Amino acid sequence: MTSEKLRQARDFEAKYMPFIPDAERPLFHVTGGIGWINDPNGFSCYKGEYHLFYQYHPYSTKWGPMHWGHVKTRNFIRWERLPVALAPDTEYDQNGCFSGSALELDDGRQLLMYTGVHRKRSDDGVLEEYQTQCVAIGDGADYEKYEGNPVLTGADLPEGSSVLDFRDPKIWREENGLFRAVVGNRTEDGSGAILLFESEDGLRWHFAAVIDRCRNEYGKMWECPDFFPLDGKQVLLTSPQEMLALGLEFHAGYGALCLIGDWDGEARKFTREKVQSLDYGIDFYAAQTLRAYDGRRIMIAWMQNWTNSNCQPYRARTFGQMTLPRELSIRDGRLVQNPVRELEAYHGHRAAYSDVLVTGETNLPGVSGRVLDMTVTVRPAGGMYHAFRLNVAKDGEHVTYIRYKPEMNVIRVDRSRCGIRYDVVHVREFQVRPRNGELKLRLVMDRQSLELFVNDGEQAATFIVYTPESADSISFQAEGGAVLVDVEKYDLDLEK
Ligand code: FRU
Repeated sequence: MTSEKLRQARDFEAKYMPFIPDAERPLFHVTGGIGWINDPNGFSCYKGEYHLFYQYHPYSTKWGPMHWGHVKTRNFIRWERLPVALAPDTEYDQNGCFSGSALELDDGRQLLMYTGVHRKRSDDGVLEEYQTQCVAIGDGADYEKYEGNPVLTGADLPEGSSVLDFRDPKIWREENGLFRAVVGNRTEDGSGAILLFESEDGLRWHFAAVIDRCRNEYGKMWECPDFFPLDGKQVLLTSPQEMLALGLEFHAGYGALCLIGDWDGEARKFTREKVQSLDYGIDFYAAQTLRAYDGRRIMIAWMQNWTNSNCQPYRARTFGQMTLPRELSIRDGRLVQNPVRELEAYHGHRAAYSDVLVTGETNLPGVSGRVLDMTVTVRPAGGMYHAFRLNVAKDGEHVTYIRYKPEMNVIRVDRSRCGIRYDVVHVREFQVRPRNGELKLRLVMDRQSLELFVNDGEQAATFIVYTPESADSISFQAEGGAVLVDVEKYDLDLEK
């Protein structure tokens, strides 16, 4: 049954979405129909296609009572819009259908698991929030909320767990059919924990174990967990609030963590071995993965950061977009991410150069644009050099640059002059590992975004750049010496 609230949201989209020209959207990154989006939800396989839902407030470009928007794809590049899937229309989710996940049931239906939020005033007048886990089942377009909702409440939590911060279930199925889900939570000292729940049928759930937790060293509340095997290891992803900066690995504020270790599924024991940043840029949060039909582990995230989510272009009609889906693997004990290979089918015009000697600043004929996939390899031309700089989205007024200083092995991305009018963080620095003095930078740009992959995906760094599209110049610059660069640049063409 379609509730009044859900119908309203669908009607609102139908009425106003046609007024938003395609030119206001990126070419191949997912955006909401209209209004605001945040986290990716329910990124999963269903009936031969890939579905993606998202946190959605259609009525304005600000966060509000959360709905679930919905799109699907066959190749992670071209997406088809589907009707709004969930609205906050019951007592237990009246203040929002928060983040969650999805899977295909044996009978062909699709199960969504999400966090239902409701607020209640206590007897002494305090407005308390409750977060519970809920289920909805549908056919890939329309969903019924389960009459037994909520399926997990504060009463199911181990002692000391927060009832208020209990959200973002990520569900999967074991080979023996057991349903499992990891959920974000907060412990007595206010820091993050990831809890494991189990179910025989996807409807009746119980607490099974604490997978991992921190003691304030990796932020406070751990949001949006994901937990999956990868190349013989087990990976736990989470997005912590209130991180403390640590060297150049972690920055203060909203972070994205990747914990790599071993998992004994029977004993329900995760042994953490390594902790790293999941992305070294500014605009990346709430990542979620799926296992594709061909076995690849693919990740997508919200290409935004809560701290700067109020810094919106004047009169924007949609706000928020997803990253490009990325293929994950593990190399030398680190998480590696690269754009899905399907992107290559959309490679258009190519410009390529090798061994270009760069001293000072130079442009290369055919190398410009704002929708592109470009790989630049840099090495010293004989002696040492002070810095190499790649300037993009550039004109007389604007520039965003990626600067590499070989002496410190540090990359600095600076978008202070991208055209943004807000006094928020615009610079990120991070440590890289050149190979034999050589550094490889792959850059995917889609109008107002820039995703950087260093050394074949060893590190990724994601940025939104609010630069007018006419600023499309790219230049190569050497400071304090000379470098040799190889460049291979493709325009991306979705009409192909
Ligand atoms: C993370 C988050 C989630 C929550 C959702 C609400 O970005 O705070 O924890 O479910 O956003 O929109």
